[in-house]
Amino acid sequence: MSTFTNQIAFITGAGSGIGRVTALAFAKAGASIVVAEINESNGRETVEQIQQQGGNAIFISCDVADSEQIEKAVQQTVNVFGRLDIGINNAGIGGKFGRLLDQTKQDFNQIMAINVGGVFYGMQAQIRQMLTQKEKGHSTEDHSIGNHPGRSNLAGGHPAQGKIVNVSSIAGVRGMPMGAPYSASKHAVIGLTKTAALEYVRHNIRINAVCPVYTHSPMVDELISTAPGMEERMRRMVPMGRFGQPEEVAQAILWLCSDENSFVTGQAIQIDGGLMAG
Ligand SMILES: NC(=O)c1ccc[n+]([C@@H]2O[C@H](COP(=O)([O-])OP(=O)(O)OC[C@H]3O[C@@H](n4cnc5c(N)ncnc54)[C@H](O)[C@@H]3O)[C@@H](O)[C@H]2O)c1
Repeated sequence: MSTFTNQIAFITGAGSGIGRVTALAFAKAGASIVVAEINESNGRETVEQIQQQGGNAIFISCDVADSEQIEKAVQQTVNVFGRLDIGINNAGIGGKFGRLLDQTKQDFNQIMAINVGGVFYGMQAQIRQMLTQKEKGHSTEDHSIGNHPGRSNLAGGHPAQGKIVNVSSIAGVRGMPMGAPYSASKHAVIGLTKTAALEYVRHNIRINAVCPVYTHSPMVDELISTAPGMEERMRRMVPMGRFGQPEEVAQAILWLCSDENSFVTGQAIQIDGGLMAG
């Protein structure tokens, strides 16, 4: 795995679960980390953990559902570190567990605001900054559908100027009974990822998504607690017979952002213990 020395990684929702473990992994690989998180005490705890392992990190309070806050957080990142290399749009909520008819307009709007709005505003702020760091001489031609920019020799072969990974879910590629708003939000994340990847491929910004199956984290612990026997039922769904570990998701994210990945963009990588093979 390549080193991320001198690279700045902005990670939303890094106060817990997958985001925290990803932040620790990037820091271990040499990146300086911005923990952009709505929960201040958890966010600061991640910063402390990074510092304890000898890394560099700052906390920025940020509600990803608010475009102004995420814009300001990216600006603050640049004020402190001078640039932005990596954006990980991970913050998300699971929402209410219940059938479609039990989900309210408020349930739907809240999950869309955080899970989709957070990725949309996050990418806007990150890409806006990354474009200012673009190497001179790269093409800015139209990238509309059918005009396959990836065929150009301009974006190929260059280390990426910017790398973005959005955290979707297996619920973003298949239905999730009792979680319609969540599943809709995670499908939307993949649509945003693919579209942005095509629009900015010539600007040498690589944008991918990861789609984890159940992964040990506070979010999944909450889901497990909704009904007796739930954990076993969830486990049985996964061909490997277990939940994922946040480290397994983090390693995929690191690879997508590394120089070893020179040709993968616009993908939604399933980290699912074999689930979608069936
Ligand atoms: N754990 C899983 O099984 C699993 C599976 C697939 C996808 N995911 C996705 O992975 C991501 C991380 O989930 P996790 O399991 O680590 O959950 P988690 O609850 O442990 O962590 C989510 C973090 O996001 C933060 N957050 C929530 N709303 C926010 C907001 N408006 N602004 C800023 N931060 C906010 C929370 O404070 C928390 O620190 C989510 O997008 C989730 O949907 C998780």
